[in-house]
Amino acid sequence: MGRPFNSVNGLRATQLLFIIPVLFTSTWPNVVAVATQELLVGFRASPSPSVSSFQSLLNDSTGNFSMGFLRVNRLQLALTVIHLPSLQPLWQVNPTALARWSDRTELFFNGSLVISDPHSELFWSTGTLGDKVVLLNTSNLQIQRLEASPSVVWQSFDFPTDTLVENQNLTSNMSLVSSNGLYSLHLGDTFMALYAKFEENTQQMYWKRKALEARAVIVEGQGPILARVESSGFLGMFQTGNAPVDVQPFNSYQQPINRFLLVRLESDGNLKGYFWDGSTWALDYQAISAMCDLPSPCGSYGLCKPGSGCSCLDNRTEFSSGECLAVQSGHLCSNGEAKTKIDFRVLRRKGVDLPFKELMGYKTVSSLEHCEGLCENNCSCWGAVYNNASGFCYLVDYPIRTLLAVGDETKAGYFKLRKATGRKMDVGVGVGILSGAMAILVGAIGFGIYRIWKRRRGVKRILVEEDGISPGPYKDLGSASFRSIEMGTM
Ligand SMILES: *[C@@H]1O[C@H](CO)[C@@H](O)[C@H](O)[C@H]1NC(C)=O
Ligand SMILES: *[C@@H]1O[C@H](CO)[C@@H](O)[C@H](O)[C@H]1NC(C)=O
Ligand SMILES: *[C@@H]1O[C@H](CO)[C@@H](O)[C@H](O)[C@H]1NC(C)=O
Ligand SMILES: *[C@@H]1O[C@H](CO)[C@@H](O)[C@H](O)[C@H]1NC(C)=O
Ligand SMILES: *[C@@H]1O[C@H](CO)[C@@H](O)[C@H](O)[C@H]1NC(C)=O
Ligand SMILES: *[C@@H]1O[C@H](CO)[C@@H](O)[C@H](O)[C@H]1NC(C)=O
Ligand SMILES: *[C@@H]1O[C@H](CO)[C@@H](O)[C@H](O)[C@H]1NC(C)=O
Repeated sequence: MGRPFNSVNGLRATQLLFIIPVLFTSTWPNVVAVATQELLVGFRASPSPSVSSFQSLLNDSTGNFSMGFLRVNRLQLALTVIHLPSLQPLWQVNPTALARWSDRTELFFNGSLVISDPHSELFWSTGTLGDKVVLLNTSNLQIQRLEASPSVVWQSFDFPTDTLVENQNLTSNMSLVSSNGLYSLHLGDTFMALYAKFEENTQQMYWKRKALEARAVIVEGQGPILARVESSGFLGMFQTGNAPVDVQPFNSYQQPINRFLLVRLESDGNLKGYFWDGSTWALDYQAISAMCDLPSPCGSYGLCKPGSGCSCLDNRTEFSSGECLAVQSGHLCSNGEAKTKIDFRVLRRKGVDLPFKELMGYKTVSSLEHCEGLCENNCSCWGAVYNNASGFCYLVDYPIRTLLAVGDETKAGYFKLRKATGRKMDVGVGVGILSGAMAILVGAIGFGIYRIWKRRRGVKRILVEEDGISPGPYKDLGSASFRSIEMGTM
């Protein structure tokens, strides 16, 4: 899974700069124009209808980073800081709400950096009183005051999205959130951890890294820890000073190469580190190396077998379209009366275990029947897994995701499936599987044609890529359908 993320295949901003103006000199007003290096009070900009991927507004001094309008899903706009050579977004205003790519959308600076979009009613403001906006050569977007101390009144580094770049501090009041909103990275008092939001009110921890305190120890009362990617090639936790309390080395750790590093929380829940090698993002670190240890590699009611990939918990269901069942949500308690049960049917399977169960609580009981009983009558329980050898009974309080297939038949699982919508859902699932499979087929054929076509075309190719593949977290090439194909065949 060493696929570099999101960089638009083969497309380089420099090519863009060079080729597009040549072809479109007449119809290409101030697009990808040489952006300035500071914005002063009075600055205003609106997206240009002719820009199909990125409209640069502010550059850093090296020209590697740029702040501007990124076109998402053709009609939407995200204000982002991107790495220009790869068009890879590093930061974004409020990833959950996008503005529209329309001339009524405006970005202006009046002391605050403000985006207003009357159409989608998006209004975002830094709420500051600054004199200028600059983009540092670290990719940090700052609003500064000229005669004040501290001079920085706002910075994008304090509001990370899914990415933490080299030298950016992640503190205990910040988090990284994957672009699909499902996964997050937070710091605890002595550790960092990844959490899945499988259900509205639950945060299931699925990966935890405790500070090993090899180079410095955590001193109580010395303040919270922070995390940072260091240029020498590691993801570190620090308390005070420069001695890390923990080091997670990248592959390129301490190699004397000059490179730009970052970590990103991917939409499959993995935390990956990359460096820019001048032409592509090379994978340099991953928190979770085995696919079955990811939070939900085979989807809802899926079963992951190390070394052989995905199947379904229900052995009568074929794992074909990247999922066994549409995600079930909510709980099995009927609305209002928490104690009344909603009808469910039960699925049992031997030889299964919970992933990351060492991060889950358990009860010790004497039998499988007893373990199932704890879950059966509790409407916020979706399933239970019992280990006959230890007597441990794990209860799952979110709709079932992927379980682990183990050879040990004494580990048994009990899973609930919502019944009320059962039949409808089965049809829905069938249709979903069918259309999913067709989408993948069409996608694969399209991709094949596209590749053949790409080989045949010279200059035009770049325009198509630029048009057809928009970068950014919304159309993540590394995930979604391509990833499910990858997993299905692993
Ligand atoms: C900047 O514009 C916003 C939105 O119109 C407004 O709320 C804010 O008061 C303005 N700030 C200043 C300093 O004028
Ligand atoms: C980035 O900026 C800092 C301070 O402004 C400077 O010391 C450093 O050399 C710059 N780095 C690059 C790669 O331009
Ligand atoms: C990160 O934190 C360290 C230690 O608190 C501080 O010295 C450094 O200036 C911070 N870096 C940024 C970019 O804020
Ligand atoms: C920044 O640009 C310089 C050349 O201007 C290049 O050598 C370097 O690799 C770039 N860094 C990144 C992170 O793209
Ligand atoms: C499915 O599982 C049930 C019970 O575990 C077993 O009896 C049955 O033979 C299995 N069917 C297939 C096709 O593997
Ligand atoms: C019901 O199950 C949930 C989650 O499994 C658990 O937190 C809760 O304590 C259980 N309630 C009772 C009354 O056992
Ligand atoms: C479970 O454990 C009990 C006693 O520890 C044993 O008698 C029983 O055979 C085991 N059941 C299975 C299915 O392994």
